Amino acid sequence: MSQRDRQLLLAHLLGVKAPELYLKMEEEVPLQLLEEYEKSIKKLEEGYPLQYLIGEWDFYGRTFKVAEGVLIPRSETELLVEKTLELLDSRRDYTGLEIGVGSGCIAITLLLERERLFMYGTDINPKALELTRINAENYGVSQRLKLLQGKDFEPVKGLRFDFVVSNPPYIPEGLWETLPEGVKLEGKDALIGGKKGWEFYERFAQQVGDFLKENGFFVLEIGHDQGQIVQELLKDYSPKIFKDYSGQDRVVVGWKS
Ligand SMILES: C[S@@+](CC[C@H](N)C(=O)[O-])C[C@H]1O[C@@H](n2cnc3c(N)ncnc32)[C@H](O)[C@@H]1O
Repeated sequence: MSQRDRQLLLAHLLGVKAPELYLKMEEEVPLQLLEEYEKSIKKLEEGYPLQYLIGEWDFYGRTFKVAEGVLIPRSETELLVEKTLELLDSRRDYTGLEIGVGSGCIAITLLLERERLFMYGTDINPKALELTRINAENYGVSQRLKLLQGKDFEPVKGLRFDFVVSNPPYIPEGLWETLPEGVKLEGKDALIGGKKGWEFYERFAQQVGDFLKENGFFVLEIGHDQGQIVQELLKDYSPKIFKDYSGQDRVVVGWKS
């Protein structure tokens, strides 16, 4: 376990932010807290995610509540946010949709970065919707976020959006058993895309045209080896693939023209 993880755990137990740990250096640590620290270290060594232990994680410079059964925000997903923000003029009104909000980190970040934006957010998992609701409330954006439960575009039938974003599950079913136990705690629905892994993009390609306004766009996260197949599936939308900081295919952007 890294020194950084130990610091984050200790800061959490002491009720401070990690950079403030030094303020506590001279203070005596109560025995009960030490015992809890030791217990937590053991859990972490057994593979339990630090993020679930401390109940929060950072995304795009802000802290979001996280909980078992809901995906932990990943730093590589920040690229999806960056690409979306590049396409959103801060002086214009937009209505966007996020399919599969999870903790809400994407939709809430977009709302905080663009104050004239209104978002719809969907998820099949009620626990994810509840976590998003809490995070949205903490960041004061609940009034601009409508949450709905359901699969794909089903909860927003009849509506049209300026843009759609999603970080869908895209791991092939066959890899589930190979995932570390700690990762499995994030839930099969959050990670597994189907037999091939890319089933979401197949369904998305068939439906997205009906849900985008003219000149609307979408930004989707993809698996590192899915650039080619996703480009083929979404060929009617002039798709462009972007690589993440480690040089892997990570995001596809497309337009309805
Ligand atoms: C990979 S997680 C992404 C969560 C969050 N947006 C993020 O980036 O951290 C995928 C999310 O989509 C939800 N989901 C999976 N399949 C879905 C579907 N067909 N329609 C709507 N939501 C779905 C899962 O429950 C999960 O919360």
